[in-house]
Amino acid sequence: MRSANPVAIYLKDYQLPSYLLESTDLHFELYEDYTLVHSRLQLRRSEDCAVDAPLWLHGEGLELLAVSLDGETLPLDRYTVTDEGLEVASVPERFLLECSTRILPQENTALDGLYKSRSMFCTQCEAHGFRKITYYLDRPDVMSVFTVTIEADKSRYPVLLSNGNLKACDDIEGGRHRATWHDPFPKPAYLFALVAGDLHFIEDAFRTCSGRDVCLRIYVEQKDLGKCDHAMRSLKHSMRWDEEVYGREYDLDIFNIVAVDDFNMGAMENKGLNIFNSSCVLCSPETTTDQGFQRVESIVAHEYFHNWSGNRVTCRDWFQLSLKEGFTVFRDASFSADMGSATVRRVEEVNVLRTSQFAEDAGPMAHPVRPESVIEINNFYTVTVYEKGAELVRMLHTLLGPEAFRRGSDLYFERHDGQAVTCEDFVRAMEDASGTDLVQFRNWYSQAGTPLLTVRDEYDADAGRYTLHVTQSCPPTPGQASKQPFVIPLAMGLLGEAGNLPLHLANAEPDPDTADNTRCVLVLDQAQQSFVFEQVKEKPVPSLLRGFSAPVRLDYGFTKADLYALMSRDDDGFVRWDSAQALATRVIQDVEKQIQGSATVVVDPMLTGAWRGLLSDESIDPAMVAEMITLPGENYLAELASHTAGANVDTIHNARWAVQAEIARTCSGQLLETYHRLAQDEPYAPSADQVAARSLRNTCLEYLGCALGVHLELALEQFDTASNMTDRLAALRVIVFYGEEAQRERALDQFYRDWRHDTLVINQWFSLQAAMPLGDTLARVRELLLHPAFDLRNPNKVRALVSVFTGQNPVHFHRVDGQGYQFLGDMVAKLDGSNPQLASRLVVPLTKWHNYRGRADLMCAQLERIALLPDLSPDVFELVKKSLDAREPAQAGSR
Ligand code: TRP
Ligand code: ZN
Repeated sequence: MRSANPVAIYLKDYQLPSYLLESTDLHFELYEDYTLVHSRLQLRRSEDCAVDAPLWLHGEGLELLAVSLDGETLPLDRYTVTDEGLEVASVPERFLLECSTRILPQENTALDGLYKSRSMFCTQCEAHGFRKITYYLDRPDVMSVFTVTIEADKSRYPVLLSNGNLKACDDIEGGRHRATWHDPFPKPAYLFALVAGDLHFIEDAFRTCSGRDVCLRIYVEQKDLGKCDHAMRSLKHSMRWDEEVYGREYDLDIFNIVAVDDFNMGAMENKGLNIFNSSCVLCSPETTTDQGFQRVESIVAHEYFHNWSGNRVTCRDWFQLSLKEGFTVFRDASFSADMGSATVRRVEEVNVLRTSQFAEDAGPMAHPVRPESVIEINNFYTVTVYEKGAELVRMLHTLLGPEAFRRGSDLYFERHDGQAVTCEDFVRAMEDASGTDLVQFRNWYSQAGTPLLTVRDEYDADAGRYTLHVTQSCPPTPGQASKQPFVIPLAMGLLGEAGNLPLHLANAEPDPDTADNTRCVLVLDQAQQSFVFEQVKEKPVPSLLRGFSAPVRLDYGFTKADLYALMSRDDDGFVRWDSAQALATRVIQDVEKQIQGSATVVVDPMLTGAWRGLLSDESIDPAMVAEMITLPGENYLAELASHTAGANVDTIHNARWAVQAEIARTCSGQLLETYHRLAQDEPYAPSADQVAARSLRNTCLEYLGCALGVHLELALEQFDTASNMTDRLAALRVIVFYGEEAQRERALDQFYRDWRHDTLVINQWFSLQAAMPLGDTLARVRELLLHPAFDLRNPNKVRALVSVFTGQNPVHFHRVDGQGYQFLGDMVAKLDGSNPQLASRLVVPLTKWHNYRGRADLMCAQLERIALLPDLSPDVFELVKKSLDAREPAQAGSR
C-alpha cells in the first residue's frame, strides 16, 4: 500500500484551519456487509484564509458515492480524491457540502473508526479514526455541533446510541428502526461516538451541585449486567469529587458508558458516551482482583474528568496531547488518593514512573511531554505524555500551593471553555492566577530526559550548621544534546535520632502557612545550589524527595544504616517505602556481585532484620507494609543497572530470588503469624481496610511459598477455599510459580475448568502462565496461542499473553538463544497488517536493546527483520526506525 517512508510532521509547522464547521449532520445506515454514511457539513472559510484556498477534507479507506455543494452534484473536475482525503477547488465563503460514502466496519480489524466488536457496532475516533468514517476536517481545533441519525435492524441492534441527548426514535419499514441524537456542545471529531447493539443497562441518577438531575447508564451485554455496580459507584464518586475539588459540574442530562470487548486502549471519553474496554468497567468479587477494582475506579474517574479537562477545553493539535492527558491523570490520581490510601497510591505511581517512564526517557523513543515531531500520533500515547505529564501538573500544585493551583485551574476552565488550546495556555493560566513566574518551569514541557539530582552534605557540629549541595543535570536525548536547568521542587526534611528535626533555613522566612516546621520544599532552578540549615543540633540523615516531589533520579550516597533509619523512623510515608526499596536494592546488588564472582551468597542480616521489624509493627497500614516488603521488580533493577554496567537479566533474577528465599527462611515466624492474623471472615468488599489486609496476607503467602515447600500447602488450601478472585489468583500464582509440576498443572486445569465461560478471568489465566519463571515458558506461550480460548484479533488476549511474556518475564524473553526476540518478531509480523496500533505497542520491548548487555545484536536483528516487512505500518515503522537509528552513535561511543 505504502510506497515511500512515512514522513514526520512538526509542531512548528502548525497552521490555523482554513475552513471551519458550523454544523455536522450525519446519517448512518448500518447493514450486515457494509455501512452507508451520509454527511451534511455546513462550512465557512476562516477569516484570514485566502479566497482561493481549496477545501481539504481528511478521508481514508472510504468509497465516495456522491458529493454535492449547496445541493448541486459536484462535477468531476471540481474535486480530487487521494488515499488521504478529498480536495475541492474553489469553494464559496459559506456552503453546504454533502457526501455519501460506503465503509466496511465488519472488515475493520484495526479497531479504529467504525468497527464491529462481537455483535455490536462501535467507534473509536481518537486520534484519527473519524476520517475512516467520512470525509471531514479531522483535527481537534475544528469543532462543531453534531446531529446524528443511526438506522439499523431493530432485532439485532435494539439499542442505538450517540453523543448528547436523544431527540427522536422511530420504527421504519423492513424491521428497521432509527434514532436521532443531538449534542449541543461543539466538539472535535475525535470525541464522536456511535454504538449499536443488543445491549442492556443498569441505571442510576445523580443530582448536580446546581440541582440538575443526570441519568447515568452503563450498557453491557446481558450476561454482564451483574458486573456494573462498582463502575456506577465510581462514576457517582467522581462526579461529586470533581464538583467539590475542582468546582466542575456535569453539563448534559445523560451520561452513558458502554463496555466493548475489542478495544485498543483502556477507555475513551467521547462526549456523553464513554466507550470502555470491558476489562476496565466490569467487575465482581468472584472474577476481579482488588487491583482490578481499583483500576476500574480510576479509569471511570479518568474518562469522566475528561469532560472538563479534554472535552469542554480540548487540544489545539495532537502535540498538545498532554494538556488533556497529563492534567486528567493528575486529577484521577488525586481522586484515587482521596478514595483510598494516598501513600500506597503514590508508591504505585512511582513504580510506573521509575520502571517504564524513566526507561522510555533514557531510550531511543525519548520525547518531551510536548513532542516536537511525530510520524504516527498513536505512538505518542506514552508514559511520558500521560504519567510524566501528570507529574508536571503535580509539581505546579506543589510549587503554587493548593489554593493558587485551584485559582489557576478555575481561570484555565473559565478562560478557555469551548476552545482548543495549548500546554502554554495551561501554564499561563497558572501563572496569571498565582502571580508566579513559570518561564523556566516550561523547560519541563520542551526537554526530554530524566534529570539527575546529585546531593552532597556537610555538617559543622560546632556551628550547628548543616549544608546541602545540590547539582542537577540531564542526560542527552535524541535531538537534544544539552539541556537548560529545570525548576525542581525538592520536598525534604532532616531526620535525627529521636525523629524529624525542626528546620531553620538560612536567609528564608519561615512559611506562615505550614504549622509543621519539620518539612519544607527547596526550589532548585540552577545547575548547582547550596542550602544552609541553622540550629541543627545533631548530624541528621536527609529525607529527600518526599512524596516523590519531582520525576527525577536522586544520588546522595546513603549508607545502609541511613536507609534503615529513614525506613524505620521518617515522618514521610513515601520516603519510608523508598528507603526500604533502596535498602533491598543494595542487598540484591551485593548478591548479584557474589553470584558473578561465584562467591557464597550472603544476604545482609540488616535487611532480614528490617523486614521482621516491619512485619511485627502493627501500627503501620498493612497495605504499606506489603509495599515495603515487596522486593523491587526485575525490570526496575534492570533499569537501574542500565545506568552503570548494563543489566544481566539472569543474574538479577537469581539474586532477587535468593534474597526473597532468605527473607522467607529468616522471617517465617512473622510471615506465618501475619498470614494467620489477617484472615478475614466478612463478605468481600473492595474497601481500603480489606484490600490492605489481603494485600499483605498474599504477600506473606508468596514469601512462604517461594522457599519452603511445606508452606505450599497454605497456597493449595487458599486456592480451594478462596471466596474471591484476589485470594484465589494469589494462591494460584504461588502454586504455579513455586509448586511442583504436577501441582501447578492440576491447579491451572482446575482454574480453567472453573472459569472457561468468563473471558476476562481466562485472560488472567493466560497472563499467569506467560509470567512463569520455571519450565519452558516460551514453548508454553507458543502453545497457548493455539488454545481455543485465545484469539489474535482481541487486543486484551494478545496483551494478556504476549505483552505479559515480553514485558514481565525478563528471563524468558531475553533467552540467550534469542528465541524470545524471534517470537516477538513473529507476533509483530502477524499483527501489523490487521492492527497496527496493537503491533506498535507490542514491539516496544525490542526497542530497549540498549539496556541489555550482550543481547543487543539479537534484539536489533529482530528490529531489522521487522523493518523489512512488506507494507509495514507507519506505527511500527516509526518505533523500529528510531530504535535502529539510535544504534549507530551508541556503538561508536562505546568503541
Ligand atoms: N483518550 C483516551 C484516554 O482516556 C485514550 C484512548 C482511548 C486512545 N482509545 C484510544 C488513544 C485509541 C488512541 C487511540 O486516555
Ligand atoms: Zn485520557
